[in-house]
Amino acid sequence: MERTWWKESVVYQIYPRSFMDSNNDGIGDLKGITSKLDYLKELGIDVIWLSPIYQSPNDDNGYDISDYQAIMSEFGSMEDFDELLEEAHKRGIKIMMDLVVNHSSDEHQWFLESKSSKDNSKRDYYIWKKGQDGKEPTNWESIFSGSVWEYDETTEEYYLHLFSKKQPDLNWENPKVRKEVYDLMTWWLDKGIDGFRMDVINMISKDQSYPDGEVLEGKKYADGGSYFLNGPRIHEFLQEMNQEVLSKYDIITVGETPGVTTDEAKMYTGSKRNELNMVFQFEHMTVGNGPDGKWDRQPWKLTELKSILSHWQVELEEDGWNSLYWDNHDQPRVVSRFGNDSDEYREISAKMLATCLHMMKGTPYIYQGEELGMTNVEFPSISQYKDIETLNAYEDYVTGNRMSEDEFMEAVYYIGRDNARTPFQWDESENAGFTKGTPWIEVNPNFKQINAQAQVEDVNSVFHYYKKLIQLRKNNSVIVYGNFEELMKDDESIYAYTRTLNDEKLLVICNFTQEQVDFKLPSDLNDTNKQLLISNYDVNENESIEHFSLRPYETRVYKI
Ligand code: GLC
Ligand code: CA
Repeated sequence: MERTWWKESVVYQIYPRSFMDSNNDGIGDLKGITSKLDYLKELGIDVIWLSPIYQSPNDDNGYDISDYQAIMSEFGSMEDFDELLEEAHKRGIKIMMDLVVNHSSDEHQWFLESKSSKDNSKRDYYIWKKGQDGKEPTNWESIFSGSVWEYDETTEEYYLHLFSKKQPDLNWENPKVRKEVYDLMTWWLDKGIDGFRMDVINMISKDQSYPDGEVLEGKKYADGGSYFLNGPRIHEFLQEMNQEVLSKYDIITVGETPGVTTDEAKMYTGSKRNELNMVFQFEHMTVGNGPDGKWDRQPWKLTELKSILSHWQVELEEDGWNSLYWDNHDQPRVVSRFGNDSDEYREISAKMLATCLHMMKGTPYIYQGEELGMTNVEFPSISQYKDIETLNAYEDYVTGNRMSEDEFMEAVYYIGRDNARTPFQWDESENAGFTKGTPWIEVNPNFKQINAQAQVEDVNSVFHYYKKLIQLRKNNSVIVYGNFEELMKDDESIYAYTRTLNDEKLLVICNFTQEQVDFKLPSDLNDTNKQLLISNYDVNENESIEHFSLRPYETRVYKI
């Protein structure tokens, strides 16, 4: 397998609104990020992925862009951006920008023109359709609830929005739209940015026959996913983008691809395909989702999570590349979801989860605050929530009498996106040191126990543990390039695997439970000459590992 810098990198995601506020208006900003680059340098990451910083009316916190070549005024100016880029580069840190081109904002100039009349030159920049007998053109459900179609009185047609109605989908069938996108990408790359994370990029090609989907019992709309996920022209579009733009630069690219399978991922990321470097798959994020999706919580088993992650490891072994993540701005905090955020086990389980992910094959992503073991939040009232997905779902489920308020709030506490969007916890001062103003979303009340300052000073902290994991990856190419093999597949408590590169072998053991559990070394592995690389408890390094008891959430990595 070819060796490249982006396979050897660790990426850190910043959600600018919640990272650091430099001017005390309660909203994180670019100068705030620049002021914290030394912190990131100390952590040791190589690349920052910046969630969108472009001009936006903020219906979906920047994922609704009204000008792709301007900075959101709340975040600062283009000079502030140039300074951030320069200061990051000085520290050897690259910057990957979010590219949101499945849709724009309805306040983008293109859309304003497009909706003004049927014969406007930008009409076909978006997807307009007539209704069917006074109904929407298809019965598809928006990812943010309700119909994907919005009626516009000016021209008496509907436009498509897979997300909110303020996020109209761009029409990728139109070569002019593609050209506009390639031009703006080139403009940013020429400025010196180092890559793109492409928002829902596998949704840009829609089935042009626009069929209706099947409506499940008790629902008003259908899941239209099969008509817009990995659609008919998706690979053609990405290959064109690669040829027109990406191939001309030495950059990192990652596509966000909900619903993608390993076979499709190989097509997106295969080394001879000339599309993307890697994709974000979603399968491991769906464990515990019921038939009605994320708000429908169901029990799940460790074996489900393990088999998904291992399947991705094995399937992309020969060709293609994995991205590795637990957290991002759309997911809850992993320590609360797959670990244990009680006082007793929060640090231990956060370290275990970090080990489990960072020892796998792929490029690891750390979402801001994950390196501190930041947790989910439970705001008592729905009025304290800001996320459009959560608020729309509340309307749909609670106001629409499909779920009790209590049941819905439990789901929000477990899976809602605002869990990850509370301000970064810098120190124990007011508002966790994020702002001296009123934060746009409330701070998690646990910031006095969990904050960066305390953890940077404490060598046993989650922060220092992440730092060590990053260093291990830099010093052991087996972590980057070694083959993956899962052990004890049927075990419901332990996730164990090996990584092998030539004559080097790593053994990774993770206890996902609060119980003491038994570990037996498979007979083909050897206990002599082992070296402990990292662990989250004190371990006697010479102790035999042929048969021993793992403590709650214990993890160990041995070179064997
Ligand atoms: C992606 C983003 C998410 C956003 C959506 C629409 O899933 O990660 O935050 O709401 O796309 O742009
Ligand atoms: Ca600010």
